Order: sequence, then structure tokens, then C-alpha cells
Amino acid sequence: MDKIDIVLAVNGQPYDVRVEYRRTLADTLRDECGLTGTHLGCEHGVCGACTVLVDGQPVRSCLMFAVQAQGKKIETVEGLAHEGKMHPLQEAFIQQHALQCGFCTPGFLMLARGILEQNPSLSDDEIVEALSSNLCRCTGYRNIIAAVKQARDAMLEANTK
Ligand code: FES
Ligand code: FES
Repeated sequence: MDKIDIVLAVNGQPYDVRVEYRRTLADTLRDECGLTGTHLGCEHGVCGACTVLVDGQPVRSCLMFAVQAQGKKIETVEGLAHEGKMHPLQEAFIQQHALQCGFCTPGFLMLARGILEQNPSLSDDEIVEALSSNLCRCTGYRNIIAAVKQARDAMLEANTK
């Protein structure tokens, strides 16, 4: 199987990897980059567990080839905390008990980060609608929604100081 050398920019770091053309971004992040925070559930675009940001857009990394991500800015859950300080979304997920087994959590965190960066003042209804694209097998949706609303409010408040 033919392979290609590519460089992926993940969380501000360059990763030199050698992959098959058909290798997904999700598998490459986990296996070649060692960033196993990105989870794989369905592997066909349904569950959202594999959500990462590509140039700021939430993307299902099981549906994207690694070669397509060259030259783009990739962000994974490992890059969410900054200088030892948790992101407001991470703090809110803890405070609202928004995870049970935690399998879906990285995908929800990255989805929430992407939508709040695109629109920091999303309404409650818009948050519910956006989060409906991801699945939680533990069905903890109420707490996940509450956490994202809390993070939205905290981030809005921080931006007005
Ligand atoms: Fe990618 Fe389910 S693993 S959407
Ligand atoms: Fe278990 Fe969501 S917390 S799948």
C-alpha cells in the first residue's frame, strides 16, 4: 500500500507522519500522533465522538483523510487546556457532572468549543440544536447542555471584563 509523508499541525505542534492515502484523520491522530483523546465510536460519521476542529470548524475526523488535513490548523481535546489552566468548557463539564463514562466527552468538548467560537452568544435553543449532532451512550444530555450553557455564560462574562 502506497504511503505519503505529510506534516500535520495539531494543537500548534508539527507532526511528521507517514500514512496511507486512505488513512483517516482520526486514526492518524490516535496512532501516528499519539493523541488518543480523540475517540472513535461508530467510525462512519454518526456519533461525533471523533470531533476535532479543522481551521476552527467542528469536523468528524473519522470521515476525513489525514492527507486532506495538511496545511490546516487542527485542534484536539489535548489542546483545550492552556498553560495548565482548564478551558471554561472543561470546568463546566466537571461542575455540571456532564460526563459518566466519558467516552463521548472529547467530541462534545470540541464541538462546543467550535460552535461557541463561531458564535459566543448562542441562545439556549441553538446550543441544544447544535449538540444534537453528537451522541452520548450514557444519555447524559441534560448535564452536557447545562455545562455548555454555563461555559457560554462564563466566556461571555470573561470577554466583557
Ligand atoms: Fe466519527 Fe462516530 S467515530 S462520527
Ligand atoms: Fe458515556 Fe457520554 S458519558 S457516552
